[in-house]
Parts: sequence; structure tokens; C-alpha cells
Amino acid sequence: MTIFVTGGAGYIGTHVILELLEQGYAVVAADNFVNSKPSAVARIKQHSGIDFSFYEMDIRDSGRLNEIFTAHCIDCVVHLAGLKAVGESVEQPLGYYANNLDSTISLLSAMRAHEINKIVFSSSATVYSGNNEMPLTEESRIGDCINPYGWTKFMCEQILTDCARIGDGCAVALLRYFNPIGAHESGLFGEDPRDTPNNLMPFIAQTAMGKFSHLNIYGGDYETPDGTGIRDYIHVVDLALGHVAAIHYLCKHPGVSTFNLGTGRGVSVLELVTAFEQSTGISISKKIIARRPGDLAICVADVEKAKRELSWESKKSLHDACTDTWRWQSTNPNGYDS
Ligand code: NAD
Ligand code: UD1
Repeated sequence: MTIFVTGGAGYIGTHVILELLEQGYAVVAADNFVNSKPSAVARIKQHSGIDFSFYEMDIRDSGRLNEIFTAHCIDCVVHLAGLKAVGESVEQPLGYYANNLDSTISLLSAMRAHEINKIVFSSSATVYSGNNEMPLTEESRIGDCINPYGWTKFMCEQILTDCARIGDGCAVALLRYFNPIGAHESGLFGEDPRDTPNNLMPFIAQTAMGKFSHLNIYGGDYETPDGTGIRDYIHVVDLALGHVAAIHYLCKHPGVSTFNLGTGRGVSVLELVTAFEQSTGISISKKIIARRPGDLAICVADVEKAKRELSWESKKSLHDACTDTWRWQSTNPNGYDS
């Protein structure tokens, strides 16, 4: 089976390609490197010992997509390309809507023209409304997104759902990721943020490297056992394996299927910092400051549907995620440029 991976040079894309190659899939990938580097692709080829076609291109370029779909017989698409910085999406809403929606629309049009009818889409827990009971099931209320990034995921889910209705035999998997963390155990692949990291785990790792004097903890007065926010942190390799499971699933299940990809376990900011300290032996200075606008107290997945229908569940521990993050960060202090 040949899988076309968009956003293949990114944090999740590199791990998805590694797992696909490992399991014998043929891969064709594309990325415009707006938030990634060509060296990530070179590392995948070197580490796996497998060459694959890679296209430096914008997924909005329908001419290039048509060329690729003519040159390769694609069985399924994994669509990861997208802009994902929440704060930036508030400052540049049009850029976010244009990139994330137009790339999805171009891709779906080219797929339709070439009769490719299976797609796995990277959605996010951010599509869930803030007024749900925890844990979140796939039936929990969606919408009321608090930033343009979240709305792009919500709208792409709708576009994919509408397209699946008209396409005979179309199969769509909407994967709602919770909080991906960790890195490949080889130490060669991981998250390589462009600027100051917004997300917790890369910020902890860079603080451990001495890039920052301390970690700011956004809020110590939430209604949680230790007062800090609780999230569902999933190891990126487990997440990548969730994509492989979704591809299997699509071969037998037409229509639209939605899955939470998380662990089902809630971990507080302080618990994650402590796990990192225990796994690495490095102590992290921290200060509790005001809450970050838009943050929820708790966001945790109900993962029973993915376990039942995808026969997939996360296997790696928080300790694995901390150890793997640190191996990647400490041996690649400047990310893929190291
Ligand atoms: P990433 O930024 O590392 O990877 C996305 C890749 O897409 C980048 O390599 C970027 O260069 C590429 N890209 C963006 N727009 C493109 C375009 N128009 N044409 C070609 N390439 C383009 O992010 P990631 O963490 O790997 O996330 C992958 C997907 O998963 C994204 O769609 C993101 O929104 C979604 N997601 C990520 C998280 C997370 O925490 N990392 C959580 C939920 C959902
Ligand atoms: C954020 C995005 C979400 C996106 C996800 C990708 C917001 C509001 N939400 O989720 O849309 O899908 O990233 O992974 O930005 N924290 C600190 N100090 C920090 C950074 C974070 O205390 O320096 C806390 C946060 O308050 C939160 C937890 O750590 O309680 C996790 O934060 P983060 O990693 O940014 O992820 P989310 O906010 O869950």
C-alpha cells in the first residue's frame, strides 16, 4: 500500500513516516518546510535505510498534487500539513484559514480527480467545546472554539465529512490528538520549535538545557488536586502508531469515523515537571504565574472507542516520554540543525 503523507517533515509527520516504513508501507511525502527542515527528511531516509519520494511543495498547489497523483498510485492520504501555533492564529487569522482550509480543499479535489478515497486527518482535542464533562468522548460537544486555529480544525472536519457524503466508498478518519509529547527513541527525531516554545514539554526540555532560567506555570489555582492544569499527554510514537491503525481501519470502514488519540490519563503540570526531573535527574526551576487566557482546567480523552475499534492504545509511559524528549533535546540542542 502506498501512503501520501502531507506535512511529512514535521514533528508528527516524521514519526508517522518512520512507523509506516517500519511496517512495510511505501511512502510518498510532501512539505513546504514552513515549520520544518529538509534535514528531518534526510534523517528519516538515513535511519530507515529506505528511500522514498519527497516533494518540497505547498499542498495548496493543485497542479503539483495532480502531478504526484499521476506519478504514484496512492491508496491512502495522511493529511498532517497545517499551521498550528495558537497565538499566531489569533494574530494572523486569514493566514491560518487560507493555509489550513485551502490545503485541505486542494487535497480533497485532487484526490477526487484521481479516485483516491481514503484519508486520515490530523484534528485536535481543541475542537471540543469547553463546556463538556471529562473525559471527552467522540460524542462530546464540539464547537465554541476559542481561537482561529481551533476553528480551522473544526471546519476541516466539516469539509471532510461533507465530501465523504458524496464520494462513493469514501473513508475518512478524523483523529483528535490530545497533547503529543516525547520523541523517537533513537534520539534522531523530535519536536524542533522555530521560536520560544508555547507548549509545556518543549519548554521544560529547553529550560533543562539552560535556554530559559525557569518555567512559568500558568495558574496554580485551578480546581485540580495540585491546582495546576491537567492534560492527556500522549507519546508521539504511540500517536504515530494510531495513524497506522487508522489506515487499517479505513480499508474496511467507509464513511466518517472519529477517534480520540490520547492515553485516558490526566497529568498535571506539576506532575509532568516532576516526572521529567525524576527521569533525567535535572531539576527545573519554576514559578507559578497567572492563568493563560483560553486554558481549560482539565482536558482528558476517553479512549475506549479507539481501543475497541482501532485495536490501538497508547503503550508508552510518561517516563518514556520524558527520557526520549531529553535524549532528543540534549543530543540535538539546535534541533535538526544540530
Ligand atoms: P508541525 O508544524 O511540526 O508539522 C506540520 C508540517 O506541515 C510542517 O512541517 C509544515 O512545514 C507543514 N506545512 C504547513 N502548511 C503547509 C502547506 N500549506 N503545504 C505543505 N506543508 C505545509 O506540526 P505537528 O505537531 O507535526 O502537527 C501535525 C498536524 O497535527 C498539524 O495539522 C497540527 O495542527 C495537528 N495537531 C498537532 C498537535 C500537536 O500538539 N503537535 C495537536 C493536535 C493537532
Ligand atoms: C495547546 C493549544 C491547543 C493545541 C495543543 C497542541 C492553547 C490554548 N491550546 O494545548 O490548541 O492543540 O497545544 O499540543 O494554546 N503550561 C504552562 N507553562 C508553559 C506552557 C504550558 O504552565 O510554559 C501549561 C498550560 O497552562 C496547560 C499545560 O501546560 O495547562 C499544557 O499546555 P500546552 O502544552 O500549551 O498544551 P495545551 O494548552 O493543552
